[in-house]
Amino acid sequence: MAKLRVGIIGTGFVGPAHIEAALRTGLADVVAVVGSSEEKARAVADRYGIPRAYGDYHQLLADADVDVVHNCTPNHLHFPMNRDVLRAGKHLLSEKPLGISSAETGQLLQLAREAGVVHGVCFNYRHYAMVQELRQRVLRGDLGEVRIIRGHYLQDWLLWETDYNWRVDPALGGPLRAVADIGSHWLDTVQFISGQRVTRVFADLATLLPVRRRPAAGSRETFTSAADAAGEPVRVESEDAATLLLRFDGGAIGSVTVSQVSAGRKNRLVVALDGSRAAAEWSQEESERLWLGYRDKPNEVLLADPALVSDAARSALHYPGGHNQGWPDGLKNLLMAFYSAVRDGARGDAVRPYGFATFDDGHRMQRILDAVRLSHERAAWVAIDDDNL
Ligand SMILES: NC(=O)c1ccc[n+]([C@@H]2O[C@H](COP(=O)([O-])OP(=O)(O)OC[C@H]3O[C@@H](n4cnc5c(N)ncnc54)[C@H](O)[C@@H]3O)[C@@H](O)[C@H]2O)c1
Repeated sequence: MAKLRVGIIGTGFVGPAHIEAALRTGLADVVAVVGSSEEKARAVADRYGIPRAYGDYHQLLADADVDVVHNCTPNHLHFPMNRDVLRAGKHLLSEKPLGISSAETGQLLQLAREAGVVHGVCFNYRHYAMVQELRQRVLRGDLGEVRIIRGHYLQDWLLWETDYNWRVDPALGGPLRAVADIGSHWLDTVQFISGQRVTRVFADLATLLPVRRRPAAGSRETFTSAADAAGEPVRVESEDAATLLLRFDGGAIGSVTVSQVSAGRKNRLVVALDGSRAAAEWSQEESERLWLGYRDKPNEVLLADPALVSDAARSALHYPGGHNQGWPDGLKNLLMAFYSAVRDGARGDAVRPYGFATFDDGHRMQRILDAVRLSHERAAWVAIDDDNL
């Protein structure tokens, strides 16, 4: 079957990661890159041998040779660009969060359904082999009834006052920061693993650095910092950290701490499930390991070895045990699932078995984020609004 022809918008941190992952799937050619200028796009296109470089995404939409678009731009551009991609009738994988308000994400979901294209949101942590394995074990009943869902997602790249990025500005990143940026990944991952959906939240948000120094250039690149840089002091409105209490529709209680100011924690997404029979814990930074806890026999650590895991996890492993796979491979697996759905002609609910998050999931995630904000404002439990989903 002919390879899909992919266009990527965004040349910062995650855009090139999408290019590499797309090329490694073997299912797609990346035929065009869009940057905020043609020069930036050309530099990235040349690095990967990509023929076309555009300085305006409308050029990509007009390009009849492009089947699939990946939107890898800052959050405030997700809505207008996603809307226009859908109107152009191209398959669309959007980076998370899907938008910055549920008015936006609701409209995008509606448009995506009408367009009849494959739509996805880049919740890539679902696609790690040991996350797939844990999901299979929950489905099989190995853990019994999952009663407690716990964890954290911690980073340190915004620890200092001199750390500044577009995410800090609510006009560009959205009104929630740490919870929308990384908490959403944690929430998606635990809902995927447990099969339980968050129904209520009690949120406590904290802006621990009320002033940051914005560099003259306006923003530093994602995951970069400059401790000694001068910069204009700006008041920060969005949260650096948060704690959330959670209730799930399968009866589980839960809690998560989210922080972008935790020294030494680079990309520490940890999920832990306590069931009536057994427990499990998985950490993104040691992603080839799955800890399994028992009351009546010794605990186990399962290594990501194709010979030892379920079919679902095996299909996410591309090397023998001990040849550790990680973040770039989770993204590759997500793209393989998405492209396979496009190539197979799956549309609407028929894409569910492919396992990637769709705009339905992205919109409901935004409803959870809305509830997080409201809960913090009211200092009270808030139920997720499930009307008209
Ligand atoms: N799924 C993940 O694990 C993951 C990881 C990192 C980032 N992200 C998401 O990816 C998105 C981008 O984040 P990032 O860290 O790569 O940011 P970034 O700032 O590193 O890159 C954003 C890029 O978008 C480009 N851009 C800005 N305006 C543009 C325009 N009008 N046309 C074309 N390009 C334009 C910028 O030039 C820049 O290259 C965000 O929504 C973020 O939440 C997801």
